Amino acid sequence: KVKGAIFDLDGVIVDTAKYHFLAWKWLADQWGFEFTETDNERLKGVSRIRSLEIVLEIGGIDISEEEKLQKAEQKNEKYLQYIHQMDRSEVLPGAEEYLLQLRRRGVRIALGSASKNAVFILEKVGLAELFDAVIDGTKVSKAKPDPEVFIAGCEALGLEPGECVVFEDAEAGVEAAIAAGIYVVGIGNPDILVAANRVVSGLNELV
Ligand code: G6P
Ligand code: MG
Repeated sequence: KVKGAIFDLDGVIVDTAKYHFLAWKWLADQWGFEFTETDNERLKGVSRIRSLEIVLEIGGIDISEEEKLQKAEQKNEKYLQYIHQMDRSEVLPGAEEYLLQLRRRGVRIALGSASKNAVFILEKVGLAELFDAVIDGTKVSKAKPDPEVFIAGCEALGLEPGECVVFEDAEAGVEAAIAAGIYVVGIGNPDILVAANRVVSGLNELV
């Protein structure tokens, strides 16, 4: 029986993937190369600095480590401008209902996200109180597909991996959950999330 559920944030609970995309695209525009939605798939679930490195690789651009930190900071400032405007309407269909349903069934709930903006976003959309634990980019050092974030999620809930289920929209996240030994439900395209134990189009399919 499932006792704990660990949710990724971006693309599972809230529709922030589009804002990450717009902010990276804004940087790419400054460098003068095209950054597409297909390119953006590679950044899902990936940490901010690693995402920047992938963007630079796509543009064939080489900059110093110091400049990388500056650019990552600029991207985040742009992203923050977008997420400052967020409200409940950007919670994905079924997400709140499903969280409430799990809580009623006594399932403990954790967030397992690479984002350093996770708490801000959860508060902004009014879902923070539904989580028993939050493991985010400020708490882990190894990015998905490393299992660290999900192992920490199980520990924070006081549960074993075999008692939990992960919900993930990113390939790197699905891999991370599998590496942690946790059953994983992919959210999105079954052709992309082939490694998941099950794939649904959104949490609305589960309520
Ligand atoms: C999530 C998103 C990624 C993002 C990462 C870091 O995993 O899917 O696209 O790069 O979080 O987010 P942050 O808000 O810390 O830049
Ligand atoms: Mg995600």
